[in-house]
Amino acid sequence: MRITIFAIICLLSISCTNKNKHLVNYAQEYQIIPKPTSLEFTNGRFLVDSNTKIVGEASLEPDGKYLANLLNGATGEKISFQEGNENQGNIILKLVDSIEQKEGYTLDVTFDKIIISGKTSKGVFYGIQSLRQLMPVAVEEENGQMVKLMIPSVSIQDSPRYQYRGMHLDVARHYFPVEFIKEYIDLIAMHKMNTFHWHLTEDQGWRIEIKKYPKLTEVGAYRNGTIIGHHPGTGNDEKTHGGFYTQEEVKDIIKYATERHVTVIPEIELPGHGGAAIAAYPFLSCFPEEPSIVFNDMGSNKGKDIQAQGSPKIVQETWGVMDDVFCAGKEETFQFLEDVLDEVIPLFPGEYVHVGGDECPKGNWERCPQCQKRIKDEGLHDEHELQSYFIQRMEKYINSKGKKMIGWDEILEGGVAPNATVMSWRGEKGGIEAAMQHHDVIMTPGHSVYFDHYQSKDKDKEPLAIGGLTTVEDVYNYEPTPSELSEEEQKYVLGAQANVWTEYMKTTDYVEYMILPRMTALSEVVWSSKESKNWEDFHNRLQHISKRYDALGLNYAKHSIIGEPEK
Ligand code: ACM
Ligand code: ZN
Repeated sequence: MRITIFAIICLLSISCTNKNKHLVNYAQEYQIIPKPTSLEFTNGRFLVDSNTKIVGEASLEPDGKYLANLLNGATGEKISFQEGNENQGNIILKLVDSIEQKEGYTLDVTFDKIIISGKTSKGVFYGIQSLRQLMPVAVEEENGQMVKLMIPSVSIQDSPRYQYRGMHLDVARHYFPVEFIKEYIDLIAMHKMNTFHWHLTEDQGWRIEIKKYPKLTEVGAYRNGTIIGHHPGTGNDEKTHGGFYTQEEVKDIIKYATERHVTVIPEIELPGHGGAAIAAYPFLSCFPEEPSIVFNDMGSNKGKDIQAQGSPKIVQETWGVMDDVFCAGKEETFQFLEDVLDEVIPLFPGEYVHVGGDECPKGNWERCPQCQKRIKDEGLHDEHELQSYFIQRMEKYINSKGKKMIGWDEILEGGVAPNATVMSWRGEKGGIEAAMQHHDVIMTPGHSVYFDHYQSKDKDKEPLAIGGLTTVEDVYNYEPTPSELSEEEQKYVLGAQANVWTEYMKTTDYVEYMILPRMTALSEVVWSSKESKNWEDFHNRLQHISKRYDALGLNYAKHSIIGEPEK
């Protein structure tokens, strides 16, 4: 009897699926994240074997090879992509005009063929990512052990809700190797997100090679110690920490990202958070002779020795907002920044350059004769308008190179640069204000998408975090488009991004733990329709995708997935 009731429930749930695609728990093997716009499943399976051939037009070759790699790694077959038409293969990649959205795709799996169609190659790639999630998790293990790879039949139509779906990573507070940056990009791609915001410069480290200014990496890429424990710390670990990416490594990363349809946005912070550059080139400071201040005397012995020997500026070893910022009065500062951008911009094919703009204390500018002269000469009212002058001048330069500028929401202070895109991080206020002024906005509010926050109330059982509490459910429930905006103004909200500040994330395992599964929740926020969101359903699918994390050898916050989720 129990079995009969179970069977009836199963049948009901299947018929319900076809009528109301949003509200069901799909059978295990159809659990895709982010949830597709529509998914219908049918009977039958496609068998991957030595007869499998991937075909498509030449421009889809990188996507075809990506899929071939995935299939071959698991099965040990030698499936390849070949330029060709539908009759020449049984996994067919196609570009079709009838799909409305640039990133949209359809995926049809039947017993004898698989067709993935996209408006663009990006759409085709997202179709491949959905196909990947229909395959057993063993495909991730790349050991060629799978004798039979079967893919369940399905028909999917899908496209994203937002055009900007981003993940940020601070590689300045802690440096992470190239292999990890690639892994991060892989995770972005797996989640059908499309932007990697690479925070490259800080008070605690400069991480990108600039040939005209070699000391940026010789000096600025290394600090002589790091505070122990939570700010202000209990001491200094006295260990040199650092590293940087050569321009060749950046090119290699960009190629890797491009093959995965991920755009990389470089962030070169100004006018604040420039301490590592100032340590390398003290003329950038209003006061080159004044020693860098290390809070609570937590500096390393080596750093103190360097200062005692007459080099007052050091790469910072503690966290926070530093008073020593780029001088806005000297022309040399702007010349330096333009020279840096002249080397950075050609490396990054995307349309944006991020200039930071956040947390710039004005104390030095108030004391600096050159900054005060600039205020007078330019007819500015105060130091806030001087910050605005700084950012607007940088925007003009960036625009002259054919790129668009992004800044954190402080760039609204004293008048926003005319073409700037605003990243709203201090809640949503800045984003709302910017959208009302008809500026593009990317939502990254601390309360919902700061992945440096704790993810459980039980902080004692968590690794050290900066503070706050943002559970996976908080992330899932985040709505990026504020209801305060009119329909017209809402169009300026391009999407959302999680920020991953790494003061307390010393290792790659640690970063994985902090982003998973919260990034998975964000991927659904920015991709799937608002109407289709359902926490219980998502939480069920999270259990399923966690097996894929396991197969990929990823570290993640298991308590967010197994057992009762936190309210
Ligand atoms: C920020 O978190 N300071 C942008
Ligand atoms: Zn100055």
